[in-house]
Order: sequence, then structure tokens, then C-alpha cells
Amino acid sequence: MTTQHAQAIQVQGLEKSYKDLQVLRGVDFTVARGSIFALLGSNGAGKTTVVKILSTLLKADAGTARVNGLDVATQAADVRESISLTGQFAAVDEILSGRENLVLVARLRHLKDPGKVADDLLERFSLTDAGARKASTYSGGMRRRLDIAMSLIGNPAVIFLDEPTTGLDPQARIEVWQTVKELADRGTTVLLTTQYLDEAEQLADRIAILHQGRIIVNGTLAELKQLLPPAKVEYVEKQPTLEDVFLTLVGDNGTDGDAGNHRVPAGK
Ligand SMILES: Nc1ncnc2c1ncn2[C@@H]1O[C@H](COP(=O)(O)OP(=O)(O)OP(=O)(O)O)[C@@H](O)[C@H]1O
Ligand SMILES: [Mg+2]
Repeated sequence: MTTQHAQAIQVQGLEKSYKDLQVLRGVDFTVARGSIFALLGSNGAGKTTVVKILSTLLKADAGTARVNGLDVATQAADVRESISLTGQFAAVDEILSGRENLVLVARLRHLKDPGKVADDLLERFSLTDAGARKASTYSGGMRRRLDIAMSLIGNPAVIFLDEPTTGLDPQARIEVWQTVKELADRGTTVLLTTQYLDEAEQLADRIAILHQGRIIVNGTLAELKQLLPPAKVEYVEKQPTLEDVFLTLVGDNGTDGDAGNHRVPAGK
């Protein structure tokens, strides 16, 4: 089937409960090969749960998911060979240097010249100068870049990034965004989760919002913005931001629901 190859990720009717807590209630989406897909949702919406199921760390209760055409439930080992996961919390070994971290992963993946793989990645992620230093001395942004570099070893076709820029300063976030864009330019499919709406606006080809166990919208930024009526035309037309769309759909406690005129209360 050609559709199997056009889509890097196909998710249908995914359900997952933790004891009595029903987290996923029928999640459906697809991600086109070589695109960046952002999964948005509030804390506890189930983003990490989706990522864990797709990366075979967790079994779904119902539904199907295919990654690179492979079923995550029945072909888990094959799926694992073709993906990488950068978790919500950095997986870098603090005691090792940046270069040693990379060499270690390259060895684990049985690559031919681990030293060269490491040096190439240090170069690509602007970490050459810091390569010999212990990762414990790295800034948050450097650590994230190293973490992403580690996950690229072996050239996975699909990469999952669970909140790749949480806790980073604006400069470091921009560096990570650049990295993610380059990945997609090279043909890697990226699924990222984020709580930062500007991150999704900046990076994603398509954006899906996970809310109360389901994907409640899924589209391009332009399509999502069209869900809200355009702002009143006074002197200047104010287009709704993704934040407006998100808060309207997810429900914004404490406002009167006048979405077109929604104002961000502070800090923006
Ligand atoms: N192993 C578990 N056992 C019980 N409950 C869990 C477990 N893992 C997650 N949950 C619960 O499932 C819900 C979804 O969690 P999940 O981590 O998928 O959310 P998330 O969207 O990634 O949130 P965040 O933005 O905070 O990372 C939460 O209510 C969480 O407490
Ligand atoms: Mg999470």
C-alpha cells in the first residue's frame, strides 16, 4: 500500500488508561514523511503517553499505531530500529564528556567509526569546543543539543522530541528550533510535543491539540487560525494567534469566551 509509505506515522483509535484514569480516549492522526508535527496539550493531557506508545515504551489498550509502516504493538523491535526518542528529561550522562556520550551511543548502535560519528555530530551541533568537557558543565541549551545529537546517531527516519525546549532560555530555544528545522530539511520526520504555542507556530507543518483524550483539532497554523472569526476590523486587523485558538478550544478559565478579543493577561 502506498499510503503506508507516504505517512511516517499513522495513529488510529488509540486508547490508554492508567487504572481508572482514562488518558487517551481515541486518538487519531497521521504525520507525513519529512514533516514536523507538533502535539500540543496542557499538563497531563497525555502527550508523553502518546510518545511512549509510538516509541514502543508503553502498550496501548486499544487502537493501532504504525511508525514507518511498522506496527508498534507487533513489530516493536523493528520500530525501535527506525526511530529515536529524546525524552522530556535529558538522557545525557553527566560524568562523561559530550564526546564520550556520543561515542557511547555510537558503540551501542554498533557503528563503524564511533569517534568520527561523534566528531561530526559535535561539529554539526556547534559543540566541538565543548566536546572534551564533562556534560555536567554544559548549559541547558548545550545539554539539549547534545541530547538531540545523541538521538540522531544511526540516522533514524522518525524522531520524537518530548518538550525539547522546556526550561531553555530564548537563545537556546532558537538554537534547538534551528536544529529541528535542519532535521526536517534532511528528510527526517519529527513529532514534537510542546506546551509552548510559539514553538509550534515557529516549527510545525501541522499542529494537533490533544484535549480530554482526543485530538480536537489538527491542521496547519493557517487552518487553525481560520477556526476563529478574524478579529474585528477597527483600524488594524488583529489575526488570532495560535494562543487564541488554543485557549478557545481548550477552555480558558476566567475569561468570558470572547475569543476574538482574547488578550494574554501578562508577560506578552
Ligand atoms: N505511569 C503512570 N501511572 C499513572 N498515571 C500516569 C502514569 N503516567 C502518566 N499518568 C497520568 O496520565 C496523565 C497524562 O500524562 P502524560 O505524562 O502523558 O501527560 P503530558 O501531556 O505529557 O503532560 P506534561 O505536559 O505535564 O508533560 C496525567 O494525568 C498523568 O498523571
Ligand atoms: Mg509530558
